[in-house]
Amino acid sequence: MFQNNMSQKKPPVITIDGPAGSGKGTISQKVAEQLGWNILDSGALYRLVALAAEKKDVDFDTEDSLSEIAEALDVTFTPCAGGGVAILLEGDDVSLAIRSEDCGCAASKVAAVKPVRAALLERQRRFLDLPGLVADGRDMGTVVFPDAKVKIFLTASAEIRAERRLKQLKEQGINANLRGLIDDIEERDARDMNRKDAPLVPADDAIIIDTGKSTIDEVVSEVMDTVKNVYS
Ligand code: DC
Repeated sequence: MFQNNMSQKKPPVITIDGPAGSGKGTISQKVAEQLGWNILDSGALYRLVALAAEKKDVDFDTEDSLSEIAEALDVTFTPCAGGGVAILLEGDDVSLAIRSEDCGCAASKVAAVKPVRAALLERQRRFLDLPGLVADGRDMGTVVFPDAKVKIFLTASAEIRAERRLKQLKEQGINANLRGLIDDIEERDARDMNRKDAPLVPADDAIIIDTGKSTIDEVVSEVMDTVKNVYS
């Protein structure tokens, strides 16, 4: 629908940042589908580094080993026939394994290691391809794609985000308690927002949307309206 202007050198990119559970993944997928653009789930890369480190018994305090793992990460994103993407780490399908709460928490720890972020920077930028990219993460608009013409930052209270997570877990038959999930989310927010390198913060030119106050479809259409205004 929105074709890249051929006079532009780089394919267009939309950045969608925000804290855990703010709806980035769902909104990014829907926007990418409507536009027919590529998608970058940058959180998956940090989750993969954490999983690979755990598999190799590498301590999260050893920065050199972690950055070697990030640099050498052998990962393949394979589109599935029924939609979605299978994520292979060294050939093993880890699509489900990387989605656990523990892996999210471990990802947030390795993401605070500066050389790990440096090692993943170019890898993330290589996802930028025609006809365009929807990039989802924490620092997409501030560090990875600072020239993006559309930057979105999603928010929602910790309670609302924890309730969403509780519902997802219940659907998977997993028991959890809301207070524990709120605590986990607040701990992850604090780590992601307070790290020195590329902290979770909206870009100065980001549009901030509270997903606790709107339905998914309303947020998607707000993002699409912004994209239409910028690219048509
Ligand atoms: O979006 P997610 O929950 O899959 O991300 C997992 C962790 O990875 C998150 O807590 C912080 C880190 N992360 C990051 O530091 N920078 C990104 N661009 C994406 C994720």
